[in-house]
Amino acid sequence: WPALIAVLSLGYLLGSIPFGLVLTRLAGLGDLRSIGSGNIGATNVLRTGNKKLAAATLLLDALKATAAAVIAQAVFGHNAGLLAGFAAFIGHLFPIWLGFKGGKGVATYIGTLLGVAPLMVLVFAIVWLSIAYLSRYSSLSALVATLVIPVVLWILGAQEASLVTSAMTVITYWRHKPNIERLIAGTESKIGQKG
Ligand code: G3P
Repeated sequence: WPALIAVLSLGYLLGSIPFGLVLTRLAGLGDLRSIGSGNIGATNVLRTGNKKLAAATLLLDALKATAAAVIAQAVFGHNAGLLAGFAAFIGHLFPIWLGFKGGKGVATYIGTLLGVAPLMVLVFAIVWLSIAYLSRYSSLSALVATLVIPVVLWILGAQEASLVTSAMTVITYWRHKPNIERLIAGTESKIGQKG
């Protein structure tokens, strides 16, 4: 139990650092939550027009989950890494610092994969980039990529990773409800658009 609590706390605390919000504030861009979709993630940072800051947000939001997963994995093994990544994902979605109102979890999803199943990042990237190239929708690209990952993991025989990522995918879909509604209505903003 103490080990489990340590793993989950480490993941949650690292995951709850809202890098998008911190970086945009440091750059003097104001409160990210009053820009674009109001989300605290890299896609919304891109709507400020600052590509480098968006890339840094994606990287740091991903790496906080990777760090949690890698540390937990090194100390307690593979499944602990998965749990720590999941906890970081939850920390990003429900950060105590922001009244539990956080992001949508795509970067922390990728970061968890990087920590526990690095080759899956390649699969994620290929699917994400293909859908983004075809549709120009960041949300749709993430929704398709997060659907593919648990299936590929299952086919490869990585049951635990498939189950944990399945849970993350379901939660990701729930968090993208407004995006899904906008996609259906045809009003979702495309990559490169400010709105
Ligand atoms: O999957 C990308 C997602 O985070 C979309 O963000 O700002 O368009 O709601 P946003």
